[in-house]
Amino acid sequence: MAPSPREASPKLQDAMDEIADAVDRTLSRLLPETDLAESVLYDAMRYGVLGGGKRLRPFLAVQAAFLFNVDSSRARRLAAAIELVHCYSLIHDDLPSMDDASLRRGQPTVHKQYSEATAVLAGDALLTLAFEVLADPETHEDPRVRCELITELAKASGAHGMVGGQMLDLIGEDEEFDLGTISRLQRMKTGRLMAFACEAGAILGKASDAHRRALRNYAYDLGLAFQVTDDILDVEADPQDTGKEHGKDEAAGKSTFVSAMGKEEARERAEMVVRQAMAHLNVFGSRADIMKELAEYVLARRA
Ligand code: IPE
Ligand code: IPE
Ligand code: MG
Ligand code: MG
Ligand code: MG
Repeated sequence: MAPSPREASPKLQDAMDEIADAVDRTLSRLLPETDLAESVLYDAMRYGVLGGGKRLRPFLAVQAAFLFNVDSSRARRLAAAIELVHCYSLIHDDLPSMDDASLRRGQPTVHKQYSEATAVLAGDALLTLAFEVLADPETHEDPRVRCELITELAKASGAHGMVGGQMLDLIGEDEEFDLGTISRLQRMKTGRLMAFACEAGAILGKASDAHRRALRNYAYDLGLAFQVTDDILDVEADPQDTGKEHGKDEAAGKSTFVSAMGKEEARERAEMVVRQAMAHLNVFGSRADIMKELAEYVLARRA
């Protein structure tokens, strides 16, 4: 029987679980517990990173690296660095001054569990740790490769990327954005880090420009479909599945594809974008089949 479109196939699920477990082990090693006077910072960092999550960006990084036969321990370090940035972005996204969320991954958000100041600092420390991980020769022996990873992650995370997208997202609570601006917002806040995850696998593998471009384009389309689905889930999902509160976007007056065009049209658009995402991977033949399957899952997911 064909797998239900709401679930990942057993093959995709197994691959996602395996990568999540391996990257979690790396993350846990990077985030030790301590008995220093400031141990609460380390506790909050561990809490914000190790408590679940789909580990989608690590999956992208590891799968992209696999296309170029990159050593798996290097791929895992790269994946861990990206997840550190992602988790920092979630901790800050949940703050009262941003989305003011109480629940994340089924648990109280970091500022609820600890304090607002601790959440700000834990996010800051996770972001900087990501760069420390990439700068370590264990990630790659060639300093040019490390430097390129660091530069690209900085661009993907900062004002041109995720942080700029988050700023637009907040401005979009008070202003009504047109579809072009909403696309740009989503590309920056979500697409940019996913594009880095894919492209960084190719950087580790010293891949050709054409292969890098194909992966980048795949990830931008995937990121758009992912965020549209996130926006739809905000309206219709069960918080038991997502581990997040429900209806936050509408309550905050966010500018999303759902607010601009309604759920049905937003879903149709996401379906079109996913087909486009898959087509970018044709250049890799069957080795990229699992990444194509991931694109379908991103659309069908309930969490
Ligand atoms: C949530 O990302 C933030 C968005 C970009 C929509 P995920 O849905 O990947 O969150 P986790 O890591 O699985 O918790
Ligand atoms: C957050 O988008 C994207 C980030 C860069 C953190 P959302 O605000 O929609 O993410 P959720 O719904 O809180 O996970
Ligand atoms: Mg947000
Ligand atoms: Mg949010
Ligand atoms: Mg959301």
